[in-house]
Amino acid sequence: MSALVTGAAGAIGSAAAFRLARDGHPVAVVDLDRDGADAIADGIRGEGGLAIGIGCDLRDETQIEAAFATAHRELGPLEVLVNNAAVFPSGPFPEVSVEELDTTIAVNQRAYFLCAQQAASAMIESGGGSIVNIASITWHGGWADMAPYVMTKGGIVALTRAVATELGRYEIRVNAIAPGAFPTAAERAQHPDLEAYEAVILESQALKRRGTFEELAAAISFLAGPESTFITGQTLNVDGGWIMA
Ligand SMILES: NC(=O)c1ccc[n+]([C@@H]2O[C@H](COP(=O)([O-])OP(=O)(O)OC[C@H]3O[C@@H](n4cnc5c(N)ncnc54)[C@H](O)[C@@H]3O)[C@@H](O)[C@H]2O)c1
Repeated sequence: MSALVTGAAGAIGSAAAFRLARDGHPVAVVDLDRDGADAIADGIRGEGGLAIGIGCDLRDETQIEAAFATAHRELGPLEVLVNNAAVFPSGPFPEVSVEELDTTIAVNQRAYFLCAQQAASAMIESGGGSIVNIASITWHGGWADMAPYVMTKGGIVALTRAVATELGRYEIRVNAIAPGAFPTAAERAQHPDLEAYEAVILESQALKRRGTFEELAAAISFLAGPESTFITGQTLNVDGGWIMA
């Protein structure tokens, strides 16, 4: 049965898409970046998996509906949704524009809600499934200079619990993963003094090394798959022991 990953042209989404394909799922690689989505789908097919790239602006509910319809038509019934796409505006709280706030809510929260609704309808019909929402550890500590992002990520934890409660009766599980800091291109762009930034990360983590995308994808695979069938409504921190709560 198939899996759909949003933001799957990006760093974490692409690792999740490859991993779910290796787990045996046909994968819908959904992203605003159509070329990027196609490239990831090509890569998955190149190693013997089944995947299609789907261009979709998750701010638009009609495009979300179309993406799920295409995935169903091409790949069959949906078993796994990974809600992963996000935007990362940063800046002092008083200076956040209404446009930045609205876009962050639309991509990081509203789209998670709408995609989960699409998945729920499909999974109720097919007899069950697993939804994995990608949150962030930033909501625990209230990180500075990224208030819209932190707000949406806290909302994702709440959404995960509410939807897990409602959908459990259909054998649909809903969990979240809160990643710590992973070494992305965005991180390199945002932190010119990468060495100093990495020193802060390693000081904060119990494990004194950077996490890999494969380690994150393994946790996504666990919550998506048959080894976690009695786990729902949970948020798993995958952060090298940064947050212990
Ligand atoms: N990288 C980290 O260290 C880190 C830490 C904590 C949480 N996370 C979470 O992990 C997830 C993935 O992050 P990433 O680091 O891989 O980011 P990324 O920027 O590499 O990937 C995000 C993807 O989302 C897509 N996207 C953005 N807006 C979209 C829209 N309107 N419609 C469709 N797609 C859209 C982008 O095109 C991109 O491919 C996010 O939810 C993020 O909050 C990441």
